[in-house]
Formats: sequence, C-alpha cells, structure tokens
Amino acid sequence: MEKQPSLLLALLFFIIVSCYIAETHAKKQEQRLGHLYKAKLKENSGVDTSLFKTIHNVSRATIHSQDGLKENDRIEKLPGQPEVEFSQYGGYVTVDESAGRAMYYYFVEAQKSKDSAPLLLWLNGGPGCSSLAYGAMQELGPFRVRSDGKSLFRNRYSWNNAANVLFLESPAGVGFSYSNRTSDYDESGDRKTAADNYMFLVNWLERFPEYKGREFYISGESYAGHYAPQLAHTILYHNKKANTTIINLKGIMIGNAVINDETDVRGMYEYFQSHALISDEAAYQIQKYCDFSPNATRSDECNAATEEAEENISHLDIYNIYAPLCSNSSLTARPKKASITNFDPCSDYYVYAYLNRPDVQQALHANVTKLDHDWEPCSDILRKWQDSPSTIIPLLREFMENGLRLWIFSGDTDGRIPVTSTKNSINTMKLPIKTPWHAWYLYGEVGGYTQMYKGDITFATVRGAGHQVPSYQPKRALSLVKHFLDGSPLPNTSRYT
Ligand SMILES: *[C@@H]1O[C@H](CO)[C@@H](O)[C@H](O)[C@H]1NC(C)=O
Ligand SMILES: *[C@@H]1O[C@H](CO)[C@@H](O)[C@H](O)[C@H]1NC(C)=O
Ligand SMILES: *[C@@H]1O[C@H](CO)[C@@H](O)[C@H](O)[C@H]1NC(C)=O
Ligand SMILES: *[C@@H]1O[C@H](CO)[C@@H](O)[C@H](O)[C@H]1NC(C)=O
Ligand SMILES: *[C@@H]1O[C@H](CO)[C@@H](O)[C@H](O)[C@H]1NC(C)=O
Ligand SMILES: *[C@@H]1O[C@H](CO)[C@@H](O)[C@H](O)[C@H]1NC(C)=O
Ligand SMILES: *[C@@H]1O[C@H](CO)[C@@H](O)[C@H](O)[C@H]1NC(C)=O
Ligand SMILES: *[C@@H]1O[C@H](CO)[C@@H](O)[C@H](O)[C@H]1NC(C)=O
Repeated sequence: MEKQPSLLLALLFFIIVSCYIAETHAKKQEQRLGHLYKAKLKENSGVDTSLFKTIHNVSRATIHSQDGLKENDRIEKLPGQPEVEFSQYGGYVTVDESAGRAMYYYFVEAQKSKDSAPLLLWLNGGPGCSSLAYGAMQELGPFRVRSDGKSLFRNRYSWNNAANVLFLESPAGVGFSYSNRTSDYDESGDRKTAADNYMFLVNWLERFPEYKGREFYISGESYAGHYAPQLAHTILYHNKKANTTIINLKGIMIGNAVINDETDVRGMYEYFQSHALISDEAAYQIQKYCDFSPNATRSDECNAATEEAEENISHLDIYNIYAPLCSNSSLTARPKKASITNFDPCSDYYVYAYLNRPDVQQALHANVTKLDHDWEPCSDILRKWQDSPSTIIPLLREFMENGLRLWIFSGDTDGRIPVTSTKNSINTMKLPIKTPWHAWYLYGEVGGYTQMYKGDITFATVRGAGHQVPSYQPKRALSLVKHFLDGSPLPNTSRYT
C-alpha cells in the first residue's frame, strides 16, 4: 500500500485533476485544499463560486425522536485508553431518512462543570477530511494514539478542559459518516454540508436535551473557514425564521482558515517569499503576472512562476515549514515514547491503524452498517465538490451585525493558509481597530500576537504552530480557546500568566 506519496505527486495531481479529488493514501487535509484551489482557479471548473445561500427547506419537521438513543451512544472505554473521569459518547445521527444519510459524531464532556460549560463544535476541513482524524485524535481531543496503533495516551491540554467538545465527521462520505444513497457523495458541496450539519445539530440536541439552550460555539480550521461560518449563518437564519433561539449560538473561532480566495492565495506566495522558500524573482513574477481574483484567467507567465514556487516547496511540510517529516510510517511493536508537546509527524498512520480496528469501531459505535471502504483521514469517496464561494467575508459581516463573537487565529509556521493570507483577508474588511497589535503571553513567554477590532473580532497568531495549531502548540491553543470562550482578551503582560 502506497502510504506516503511524494508531495510532487500530489502537486501533479492538482495540476491534472480538475474538480476531482486525488486518490492517494496519505491524505492530509491540506492537499485537498490544494486540489480545490486549483479547480476553482480553472475556467469552466464546474465549481459554483457564487456567494453562499442557505438551503431553506430544512425544517423543524425533520427532527426525529431521539428517545433512549443517548445512553446507547455512551462509550464505556476505548481500547487502550487510560482511565478518565469524564463521559464520552459516539454514534450516528440520521440527517435524511429517505436517503439513509447519517453523520458520525464523537463527544467528550467537559472535565469540570459539564452542566454549565459551553458546548463547542469542532470541524476539520479538506474538504473531505475527518474531525476525528485530526481534531479529536491529533489536535485538541483528550487522547492521542501511540506508535503501536493500538494504545492511547492522555492530552492534558485537551479542549474539554474548557468546554463540552463535539467532533463531527462531515459531510457524509467522510470518516464513518455515510449515505446509503451513494449518489449523494457526488453532490457534496458547501451548501449541502451546511444543511446536513444543521440537521445533525438540531437532532443531536434532541438526543442530548440538557445542552439545548447552552451557550454554543463553532470552531474549526482550514476549509472549516467555510463550514463554520456557513453553519453559523444557517443557525441564524433558522432562529430568525422561527423567531426563537433554536440554537444559542454565541461565537465562531476559525484557524488557518480559508476566508477569501484571492487574498488567501496571494498571501501564500508572500509567505513563501518572506520565509525564504522561493526566489525573489519568482515572487516578483507572481506579483506581476498573477491575478487571483475570482473568475480571472491565469496567464502562462503566472503559471510558470507558481509552478516554480511549488517545486521549491515540494520537499518540506508546507503545513508547518519547520517541522520534521515522517520518515518511517510503520507501526512499532512497542509504543515509542510519546509527548504531547513534541508532535510526532507520523501520527496520521497511527490514527489510521487505530480507527480501522474492529474493536475500536465497536467501542465507538461506528461503522454499524459495515461500510464497503476503509475509514480514511480524508475521504476517497468524495470525488466532486459542487459549490465553494470565493469568499465568506459577507458572512463575517453578518456575524458582526448579529453580535456574535468572532476569533480568527493563525499558526504562524503554516505555509498553506499562512498568517499573511489571513491578515490580508481581514484587511479587506477595513475594520476599525479596538486594541492595536501587541504580543500575548503565556507562562512568561510570547504566545503570539493579537489585534482586536470593533465589532467583537479578534485576530490572534499562535507562535510556532503549523496549520494544525493544537498539535504543535497545545498549551497556547488551550489558552486561546479559554479566552475565546470567556470573551476575555488574551493577556497583554507576562506578569500573571
Ligand atoms: C464568478 O462567476 C460566478 C458564476 O460562475 C458568479 O456567480 C460570480 O459572481 C463571479 N464572481 C465575480 C467576482 O465576478
Ligand atoms: C429540499 O428541496 C430539495 C430540492 O427541491 C429536495 O431534494 C429535498 O429533499 C428537500 N429537503 C427537505 C428536507 O425537504
Ligand atoms: C443504511 O442501510 C442499512 C442497511 O440496510 C441500514 O441498516 C441503515 O439503517 C441505513 N442507514 C440509515 C441512516 O437509514
Ligand atoms: C417574535 O417573538 C417576540 C417575543 O418573543 C414577539 O414579541 C414578536 O412579536 C415576535 N415576532 C414575530 C414576527 O412573530
Ligand atoms: C526551484 O525552482 C527552480 C526553477 O524550477 C529550480 O531551478 C530549482 O532547482 C528549484 N529549487 C528547489 C530547491 O526545488
Ligand atoms: C521502520 O520501522 C519498522 C518498525 O519499527 C522497522 O521494522 C523498519 O525496519 C523501519 N524501516 C526503515 C526503512 O527504517
Ligand atoms: C467497516 O467495516 C467493514 C467490515 O468490517 C470494513 O471492511 C470497513 O473497512 C469498515 N469501514 C469503515 C469506514 O470503518
Ligand atoms: C492590558 O489589558 C488590560 C485588561 O484587558 C487593560 O486594562 C490594560 O489597559 C491593557 N494594557 C495595555 C498597556 O494595553
């Protein structure tokens, strides 16, 4: 089994594959994004890039009875798991009965005050990548998988130190989520993902009624820069339509997020140049010849320069430019010494092995219908992506008008959706500044930099973190999410932290 195709191969794919998602085995969520960007920048790609519109006909009538289902979902203990004091649940929520479409979730209750702590949803991106693969098992969940692929160790910086955390594999076709009407997979796109995620949530809240009315927050990274705002928009839409708070949405936090294609892509090349990854000449050519605005045609000069840049970054992990690569993807008979603060670049392989174990799937109440494909960190069966707006900034403006809290964070060693992209994207909004740029601190060190804008928008970098911020800087990430949920500014002095 080819488990680690070179990035060059991946790049070749994203040149030859239009809106197809490549079939490779090492599926990092970010490669998916590369494919989608390429697809969207092509003429006649078939990807609808117009602004996001909600699917209006999801209705209260599609809430199904969830009586007794919660206790069935309780996870007694995961194989190889250390003892813990909080409850875990996992299972399926049907979002479309006639199609037989069901979403898989994994839920960990807060370690303290679960009855009052907020409810936080986490989404990974891709499109097509699993929140279980990344969020739960490699980033902010309570456990990480050891190199033997069968035992777990504790993440003491898990976000369930701050909230009740819900991980959702979305859309159907990702991870354990599925549809019995397999043609659904080819109809995937942003709009359907938002509608299904919304149906999931209202039904999940029926199953866990104690969380109805609880303060609710949506978080995510990468392509979840689309999913989180689109779900938030859908929630606001239905709350307004029903003239009642169906879901008590308070805020959104997105990291290294796809926000605005034009500035995201341009900012990526700026980052390559400013971090000495590509030549000044190539950067100059890109600046001069490339028009990344929506629907623009790419010139040959632009293509030549971007191809050179891509070749030059092809031998490093562009999602954390200073990180080591995985040199041996085999599992080890005895687990290697593992550390939360020193992320193992081969973790993807450990998680793949773990989540494909029948005993693990049984404990998770996953794959109950015996799907005909493996569990994959990024889906092989989602081949087309129908719609992906070129910007989500109009949604961010809507959140400001509705008084939602919005935090946008950025791991500053990510080269895929780097800090330059995110700053440029935010700058297009021309927001008035509330608190000017300053360092924020944790344990006496600079955790990153932050700037706050009027209208409850906070931008914060996380120093020394790649694309998956909590993987690389778990303490700083936990501090960030605590301040986000509290609505308190990040500490501007090292004195008390
Ligand atoms: C790009 O084309 C789409 C139709 O494919 C259109 O809806 C959209 O408004 C266009 N965007 C811009 C910025 O012209
Ligand atoms: C919403 O409308 C679409 C197209 O009209 C239809 O296919 C779908 O089944 C409807 N969904 C619901 C929940 O009514
Ligand atoms: C999908 O089909 C299987 C097998 O018929 C069935 O057991 C399952 O309940 C279906 N899923 C949904 C969500 O209806
Ligand atoms: C919405 O509900 C409020 C009270 O909760 C009521 O005063 C108001 O008239 C309602 N608006 C509409 C359009 O029904
Ligand atoms: C960068 O790209 C140029 C032009 O294709 C090439 O000559 C050079 O060898 C590349 N360098 C690396 C490190 O890939
Ligand atoms: C990779 O690791 C496995 C398990 O530890 C070992 O058996 C194998 O020899 C290693 N391969 C290489 C190329 O180092
Ligand atoms: C589901 O179970 C079947 C049969 O045990 C297995 O072949 C398949 O890989 C599993 N798929 C997923 C997505 O877990
Ligand atoms: C630092 O933050 C505190 C609390 O948010 C604020 O009161 C204080 O004015 C800030 N100090 C500076 C120098 O910005």
